[in-house]
Amino acid sequence: MSGQLAASFSKPIFIATWPFGKSACEKSKSVLGAGGSLLDAIERGINLTELDETVDSVGYGGLPNADGVVQLDASFMDGRGQKAGAVAALEGYPNPISVARRIMETTRHVMLAGSDAARFADQNGFQSRDMLTAEARKSWLDFKARRARGNAEDEKSHDTISLLGLAADGHLAGGCSTSGLAYKLPGRVGDSPLIGSGLYVDGSVGAAGATGIGENVLRYCGSFLIVEFMRQGMTPTEACEKAIRRIGAGEQKPLEQLSVNFVALRQDGLVGAAGTDVEFLCAVVDASQSVLIRPSLVR
Ligand code: GLY
Repeated sequence: MSGQLAASFSKPIFIATWPFGKSACEKSKSVLGAGGSLLDAIERGINLTELDETVDSVGYGGLPNADGVVQLDASFMDGRGQKAGAVAALEGYPNPISVARRIMETTRHVMLAGSDAARFADQNGFQSRDMLTAEARKSWLDFKARRARGNAEDEKSHDTISLLGLAADGHLAGGCSTSGLAYKLPGRVGDSPLIGSGLYVDGSVGAAGATGIGENVLRYCGSFLIVEFMRQGMTPTEACEKAIRRIGAGEQKPLEQLSVNFVALRQDGLVGAAGTDVEFLCAVVDASQSVLIRPSLVR
């Protein structure tokens, strides 16, 4: 671990969930540095994780639902003009974040779901592929064998990528992409594509993104709550901590059972993160450094 949340970062700043978010943020910075827009930077950073088949919770290589089908969720927000796009339960396309951005930029809608989202992707030139890797199929078969033995409580793999960015000119945007809870009920939609839950960006205040058990985030509009707390003057970390405590109070369960984790980025460049999972880490890349940071553990 080489960084601290309290450190001061200089624009452009990217913050993302989990260690795999570090290479995604580095990609975002290089896209921006090469003349791409902030939206290009966020999309292509997340694309990197989506196409990394060693990441079993995002995009290609993601673990499937209970039927062995990979269903992906994603959302994209542009703080300029409060624009948003999202896709839910998308099958057959490895880059749901790009489909979400395309919905945002070319339709008058915010979210498309299921087979019609796939039809939109096809009509917009996205390439489909078989999404179930041999590794993911093996994990799913192991899960089915455990379930047959009555021992399938394990819901691993909900490590969503949420990536937020702030450009030198103050432009804020973010994206969120996941294959969702492993072995979920077919058709289950988590927090990630829901604006205000897995992701929220207000260009004049800040941005927040989530990872963890979506059901525990979406019933509290977790990311929206964090942005509202920042609007009231809290630092990003304080806002993430307060949102987690709000969720904890609502659930009346020990916080360590909730698996709710957030990153946040304020319009003035302050970053923050907090979570209930000890293993939760976030990545920050700015004008001069690229670091992994241990967020505030809320217990
Ligand atoms: N946070 C990802 C999910 O629950 O689907």
